[in-house]
Amino acid sequence: MLLKKITVLSALLCLFLAAPAFANKPIVIKFSHVVAENTPKGQMANKFKALVEERLAGKVEVKVYPSSQLFGDKKVLQAMLLGDVQMAAPSLSKFKTYTKTLQLFDLPFLFKDMEAVDRFQQSPAGQDLLKSLSKKGLIGLGYLHNGMKQLSASKVLKVPADAKGLKFRIMGSDVLAAQFQAVGAAPLKKPFSEVFTLLQTKAIDGQENTWSNIYSKKFFEVQPYITESDHGVLDYMVVTSKEFWMGLPDDIRPVVKKSLDEAIALGNKVASEKSVSDKKKITESGRSEVITLTDAERNLWVEAMKPVWKQFEGQIGKELIDAAYNSNK
Ligand code: SIN
Repeated sequence: MLLKKITVLSALLCLFLAAPAFANKPIVIKFSHVVAENTPKGQMANKFKALVEERLAGKVEVKVYPSSQLFGDKKVLQAMLLGDVQMAAPSLSKFKTYTKTLQLFDLPFLFKDMEAVDRFQQSPAGQDLLKSLSKKGLIGLGYLHNGMKQLSASKVLKVPADAKGLKFRIMGSDVLAAQFQAVGAAPLKKPFSEVFTLLQTKAIDGQENTWSNIYSKKFFEVQPYITESDHGVLDYMVVTSKEFWMGLPDDIRPVVKKSLDEAIALGNKVASEKSVSDKKKITESGRSEVITLTDAERNLWVEAMKPVWKQFEGQIGKELIDAAYNSNK
């Protein structure tokens, strides 16, 4: 009996001693992404970490995993729902299994520039889309820019007919697949982490991406031509799981959100600078020739690719497409 009492008492003592240690353990936010650290998203994630850890020292720790070190974009949202990662910022082209409406952002030649993209994202319709993942247990916390996409290839692309029969790597988006099929090319959905090797080994002929990604992932070193097409946008949604977000203490959540908003503002500034400076570095490298289209040539791409809008109107919604298009004005 005495032995039993001693055992119970010592178990209680252990619990008592261990309790403060548990109570003081910081909340860990694992932030996973696929790009390099010297990119808009990489710098945004690092700034977010710095701000959160400064403002919530000892209470919240942010662990950033760049360059697909933890998860690629195909797995990251599943992992988030399982609680294995708390934040990520996949490209808007990578949400198709969770919602069809975000396919909007992949429609070719929908936005004339990043200012139009920004106007739409900040409009009521754009802000509503942050809630489009909610039924699947995810929350959109904000948009982050990267920039307009360009076409890189192993041959000169001036008119749509030049792309006929070429294999292009695309993100996991049916709209992007339709966009390349519209010019007679063969789209291949592949993870970002494989693109350099696919290009280097000539398993594919080309790809589409922003100046920042083409530069930071060295695609320009293995692609002799880049057509400045500005035919689409590559932007991100910073997401978290509802369970994690709503589980954060009420005095912590607003500080995390404010830090994220400030980090996004920095990321957007970096994106806008890099769309100029990374293009310049690529041009100056002499490794890849940058091709400028005439208005007539560009119009041929628009004419060839624009029928894709009609193809996806049923899934995205005409009203939403109109709202996005009107942000160009
Ligand atoms: C990214 O910028 O996050 C990746 C884009 C891609 O998969 O091409």
